[in-house]
Order: sequence, then structure tokens, then C-alpha cells
Amino acid sequence: MIAQPRSLYVHVPWCLRKCPYCDFNSHEQAHPDFERYGQFLIKDLDSDLERYGNQPFVSVFFGGGTPSLMPPQTLAPLLNRLASRGLISEKTEITLEANPGTLDLDHLTGYRDLGINRLSVGVQSFNAEVLTALGRIHDADQAIHMIQHAQDIGFQRLNVDLMHGTPHQTPEIARGDLEIIRSLEITHLSWYQLTIEPNTAFYSRPPALPNEEALETTEETGSDLIADMGLHQYEVSAYAKPGEEARHNLNYWQFGDYFGIGAGAHGKITTDRGTVRTQRTRQPDHYLARTSFMATEHPLSNGHLSAECLMNGLRLKSGISHACFHERTGLDADQFRAEHLADADSLGLLTPDRFQASELGWRHLNRILEMLV
Ligand SMILES: C[S@@+](CC[C@H](N)C(=O)[O-])C[C@H]1O[C@@H](n2cnc3c(N)ncnc32)[C@H](O)[C@@H]1O
Ligand code: SF4
Repeated sequence: MIAQPRSLYVHVPWCLRKCPYCDFNSHEQAHPDFERYGQFLIKDLDSDLERYGNQPFVSVFFGGGTPSLMPPQTLAPLLNRLASRGLISEKTEITLEANPGTLDLDHLTGYRDLGINRLSVGVQSFNAEVLTALGRIHDADQAIHMIQHAQDIGFQRLNVDLMHGTPHQTPEIARGDLEIIRSLEITHLSWYQLTIEPNTAFYSRPPALPNEEALETTEETGSDLIADMGLHQYEVSAYAKPGEEARHNLNYWQFGDYFGIGAGAHGKITTDRGTVRTQRTRQPDHYLARTSFMATEHPLSNGHLSAECLMNGLRLKSGISHACFHERTGLDADQFRAEHLADADSLGLLTPDRFQASELGWRHLNRILEMLV
């Protein structure tokens, strides 16, 4: 199997307060031991390197949870280790997720000085009522201040997460959120429609949500507005100025490899023996009580491999090429297409030469995805 591009995902599993819609592996804890966690991340990384070999990372992503809770000096040993082993360079995209409610602005300068060159800011909305309904710990001013400060000190590559279809949101409120994005000259936007996930507070006590008509109006006017600011949609929920696409996320969608380290992190790694998924212990306390960091490994069958590759690739507007599918899975693209996607082809849901949704297919993406399982 050809060597695959490889990224590194680092999970930070704590938040100041759990948001009622969130099913990520994030835990409320007053004073986690960040220094110890930073040290454990190095051991965790080393165990993967020993097992799967050294290969420079195309990107590094600190996600959570709330990575911006971690003081820069607790992340420094890991970044130094990555640099000294030649696994990152100045060109590597290194992103950190930041929550405006946790952020000590001095942290930002520290992150920048460590070589972190991209921020992803969890804003969700700039509307006070929506923020309260979403249980957020910050207001709009804090979010705007943080974004402007980050831009001022040199974070030109900056993503904002916004949500739509939330409690209290009208199409006008969604429009107002996007107008603020325009005024802040953001170069990357993740615009997610709220989903109600099992094991969340919203699942046990469902909030009132906008009706179908309001959702449709929000989608339509919102998409137009985003396009009008020069952010092009390149994935189901991702929009960027040309050249500002997230390399880390692109590697996921193009089904590249990634190490996943930290509590509950998932990885996907291709070896001579095939492709495996890795998973770390979820509970932060259990993770911090460990003496060895070997992740649990699950081999991926050819069926899972091909389905997962396309579930990811088809989320991209440009889809993925047949050659990329073959590189990632070792399988024959034409044969796979004939066996699994003949219906999609005859309905005109795919473009002829790539695994890419046609204009019609994009509107029925779930239908294509269902054909894969
Ligand atoms: C892993 S979260 C981390 C961001 C950061 N902790 C924060 O919230 O400030 C990444 C993003 O996923 C989105 N998200 C989380 N749960 C969601 C849900 N149930 N439906 C839609 N989007 C969701 C939010 O926009 C969130 O910012
Ligand atoms: S701050 Fe982010 S990760 Fe933490 S609970 Fe809220 S959405 Fe989830």
C-alpha cells in the first residue's frame, strides 16, 4: 500500500461547562492537571510513532473539548518534540480550537509563539438569546474581541464555528450572525445545522426549534450571503476564501491517515498489514491513570474501508478522484462503482469521472450515502 498523507489530532477533553447539544468527549472539570496531560500526550505520541513509524504530519489539530484552556507552556513540550523529530515544519498547518469564554488573551500570543498558525473559534451565534439557549459561557462581545485580537497578533488563518437551526433562531438572527462574519473578514467558516444527538441534554429535554419553513429560508438566504462574502462552499458545512481551506479537515475528507492522541481520540492508520482504526481510553481520569499508551486497534475490512472513504470524499464539493479512492483503499474504483453505485449513476446523482455528487446529487447527498452501507 502507498504511504498515505498523515495528520495528527490531539484531543483535550475538558470544558468549563458542558453545552446541552454537545456529544463530544468533553467533561466539566474545575482544575485539570494540564501539565501532566501535556506530558502524557508525548508518551502517547511516542507509542504511535514506535508502532507506525515516523512520517511528517501534513497538519496538527488540537480539538476538544476546549484546548484553549491549556496554558501554552503545557503544550510546548509536545510541539517541541514534534519539531525535534522532524514531524512538523513552519509549513505545517497547526490549528487550535478556542472558546471565547475561556480565553485568556495572553494564551493567544503564547500559542502563536509556539508555532500554532491557525485558530478555530467556537462562536455558535452572536445573538444573546441564542447563546443563552445553547448554554454558552460567552457573549457576542467576547467572541468579537477575541477574533479581532487574534487577527491583530497575526492569526490570519482563522475559522469560526457558527450553528443554525438552533432554539430562538429566526432567519433574521441567522442573517445577523453572518453579517458579523462578513464585517470581521473571516477567511474560513464552519456553518453547522444543529443536530440533536443522543446522550445530550437537548435529547432528554428537547427544546423548541425553528419550523421547516424557517430552516429552509435560513439555508437559502444564508448560503447566498456566505457566497456573496467570497467564501466558497467546499464541503457540506465548510466555506473558505480560495486557498484558505482547512488542510487538516481536507485530509479527513480525502480519507488520509491520522494519529489520534489524548483521551478518547480516534486515529486511522494504513500499514503493510492493512488499515486500522485506533482508539484511546475516553475518560480523562482513566487516561491520566495509565502506565502504557498502546491504543486499541480495530482492522477495517474492505467493505468498511470503501464505504468510509466515500462517505468522507462525497462530502467534498469536488468529491475524490478514482485514483485517490484506489490509493486509499487498494480497491478498483470502476469495479466498486459498477457494483455499488450503478443506481446513483443511472439517476444522474454522480458526475461521470469522479466520485463526486452532481448538482442534483448534492441536493440528495444522504440518498447517495445510504447506497454505500
Ligand atoms: C468539538 S466542538 C469544539 C469547539 C469548542 N469547544 C467550542 O464549542 O467553543 C466543534 C463544533 O462543533 C459544532 N457542534 C457541536 N455539537 C453540535 C451539534 N449537536 N450540532 C451541530 N453542530 C455541533 C459546534 O459549532 C462546535 O463549535
Ligand atoms: S464548549 Fe465545545 S466541546 Fe465543550 S461542551 Fe461546548 S460545544 Fe462541546
